[in-house]
Amino acid sequence: MSRSVLVTGGNRGIGLAIARAFAEAGDKVAITYRSGEPPAGFLAVKCDITDPEQVEQAYKEIEEKQGAVEVLVANAGITRDQLLMRMSEEDFSAVLDTNLTGTFRVVKRANRAMLRARKGRIVLISSVVGLMGAAGQANYAASKAALVGFARSLARELGSRNITVNVVAPGFVDTDMTRVLSDEQREGIVKQVPLARYAQPEEVAASVRFLASDEAAYITGAVIPVDGGLGMGH
Ligand SMILES: NC(=O)c1ccc[n+]([C@@H]2O[C@H](COP(=O)([O-])OP(=O)(O)OC[C@H]3O[C@@H](n4cnc5c(N)ncnc54)[C@H](OP(=O)(O)O)[C@@H]3O)[C@@H](O)[C@H]2O)c1
Repeated sequence: MSRSVLVTGGNRGIGLAIARAFAEAGDKVAITYRSGEPPAGFLAVKCDITDPEQVEQAYKEIEEKQGAVEVLVANAGITRDQLLMRMSEEDFSAVLDTNLTGTFRVVKRANRAMLRARKGRIVLISSVVGLMGAAGQANYAASKAALVGFARSLARELGSRNITVNVVAPGFVDTDMTRVLSDEQREGIVKQVPLARYAQPEEVAASVRFLASDEAAYITGAVIPVDGGLGMGH
């Protein structure tokens, strides 16, 4: 396989594991980064997904250097945890702007060429928290739950053009995002996970790569949990 893949937030954490998984399979992989030195081995494009102009520029660069995006993994996301009483307008809108509107923006731009090609794979990274909710994460959970409705609407809209749209909902994964938690919080989480551990980013990446593979050609509108059983029942 040598498809043109884009992974937003592919410079670290789960996104980097996803980018590596595609590159190992022989795909051409572009990643976005916002600052610092991006990891080697990919087409790194500087892009903040909350800025429409930067998204447009990133796509132009990718199209020029590795061709129109055939597989999009919308992975970039943030948290701004706070109890509702203390959650500011800014905390709420920053999370929605990145996790939901930013995803809308990159998907819309990718869709243009996919429609023309009459094929495409879109995978959105949601979270178990979008299905279960979590105290202190109302903004994050709302943004991640919204991705499910967004994906399923697009699955209906784009299915006849051979474009699949799926969601991966990870549980707790060992990355910078969860390293901010205290040992006590981590232990409390692990107690609730049937598999009794955090996931490694590579375990999320494997499901993403599967959803973008030929074997998954008849899967669309699905929400695949990679959560050690934490959210089962939804
Ligand atoms: N870790 C978990 O337990 C877990 C569980 C469920 C779901 N998830 C989801 O999985 C995804 C990746 O999480 P992670 O754990 O790998 O987090 P992470 O280590 O904090 O990395 C977040 C990534 O998103 C990028 N990003 C954030 N805001 C961006 C923006 N406005 N424009 C472009 N890129 C932006 C970051 O880029 P910079 O390097 O420039 O900051 C970084 O590459 C997120 O959507 C997260 O919500 C994570």
